[in-house]
Amino acid sequence: MKHTDIIDVIEKDDYLGKEITVCGWVRTARDSKNVAFLALNDGTCLNHLQIVIDKNSGIEVDPEATKLGASLKVIGEVVKNDRNNTNEINAKEITVLGVCPADYPLQKKFQKLETLREMPHIRVRTNTFNAVFRVRSVLAAAIHRFFQDRGYVYINTPLITGSDCEGAGEMFQVTTIGYSEDYKSEEEYYADDFFGKKTGLSVSGQLEGEVAAMGLGKIYTFGPSFRAENSNTQRHAAEFWHVEPEIAFCELPDLIEIAEEMIKYIIKEYMDKCPEELKFFEQRFEKGLTDKLLSVINNDFAVVDYTDAIELLKKADVKFEFPVEWGCDLQSEHERYITEQIYKKPVFLINYPKGIKSFYMKQNDDGKTVAATDLLVPGVGEIIGGSEREADLNKLLSAMEEKGMSTEGYDFYLDLRKFGSVPHAGFGLGFERIIMYVTGMSNIRDVILYPRTVGSIK
Ligand code: 4AD
Repeated sequence: MKHTDIIDVIEKDDYLGKEITVCGWVRTARDSKNVAFLALNDGTCLNHLQIVIDKNSGIEVDPEATKLGASLKVIGEVVKNDRNNTNEINAKEITVLGVCPADYPLQKKFQKLETLREMPHIRVRTNTFNAVFRVRSVLAAAIHRFFQDRGYVYINTPLITGSDCEGAGEMFQVTTIGYSEDYKSEEEYYADDFFGKKTGLSVSGQLEGEVAAMGLGKIYTFGPSFRAENSNTQRHAAEFWHVEPEIAFCELPDLIEIAEEMIKYIIKEYMDKCPEELKFFEQRFEKGLTDKLLSVINNDFAVVDYTDAIELLKKADVKFEFPVEWGCDLQSEHERYITEQIYKKPVFLINYPKGIKSFYMKQNDDGKTVAATDLLVPGVGEIIGGSEREADLNKLLSAMEEKGMSTEGYDFYLDLRKFGSVPHAGFGLGFERIIMYVTGMSNIRDVILYPRTVGSIK
């Protein structure tokens, strides 16, 4: 269907005086005796195009055309509205492509986000989700551009896996047969299953990412990861999109530099490419959002040792729900205090106790900590988790043993340390978390088309 995108009609004056065709959904309709005004949106931008229907011009208007949510094809002349200096269309012909009866759920101007979550197939027609998903797309492109421009190779790692990357046992199982009493043992059951062994949906592409980096040098993945963790929070989803660069010949300080550069780059791209959306989020969801993002772009992130952070938290004049001691896993309340109250900007926490981190992280010389980093940001908490990897075969083996892990299934991973091992590092960015940070949306369910969370699937 040949037509002009509404964004072009609104933003360019090229069409003034010309007759064009636009298509879209009716967002608002005002009808009077002589004239009717429709606000039409086709999803190409946040703003609506005003369609003016002069009822005395002889135009035939189907009453269905002025119903909220109806889809239309409109032919008309583009003119300047002198009152507000915007482009609009004087309609000559209107075709109703799809009627929209009165039980259309978006009758009220503002609906609660919780209500909209119940209808993911409809909410995308609201301004909020229109903006969220356009920003999501711009950020995805910016991430690819950042890595592509710097020579990283884009890799697709498997989603079905036989190894649990984080060693945390929070994988969804992949199976084609249900367990039954007929099997004498778990081994027998898994042997009978599709792959002949226990498999699950990958929690991270990191291990295979490391494989690729050991031949290609610099790689990144950008795909879904799955976590069966039972955490019903505003920032956890069972299926989320994960950006995971992995870099050979790279140590922790290099990795931190890359992560900071990437975050600044994609925020800048967002601010340049989505000014209307940013303004919208600032007005509706987070006052001061623009200043926050400008300050992120223009200032260095803090780098803080875990041990120092523990001291700061102990001295804090706040009663935390979870007590703080060296060796403890930081809770969301601690992370937020560090980034929101103490530093008031993004913070890389580094050098965590080895007991609370994964087996593959590089062991520091102190024998107690590993060269890991989490990037914490105000409002959201952790958006990146990463580390330098343990490149020494024997140290890796002893870490696995300490954590009670079997080496079965990790032969390939150990081989990377056996054959031409190099210092290397990587991180994982939670794509939804960065979207939450730059839009001010406070719930992960509102930045992904179909959120999958514990107990809920649409
Ligand atoms: O800290 P995580 O678990 O690290 C890894 O998976 C590493 N293998 C990454 C790497 O080094 N290549 O996860 C990385 C990031 C987190 O910081 C968070 O932003 C996001 O992934 N994340 C989630 N996002 C939404 N819902 C969940 N359930 C998430 N779990 C992790």
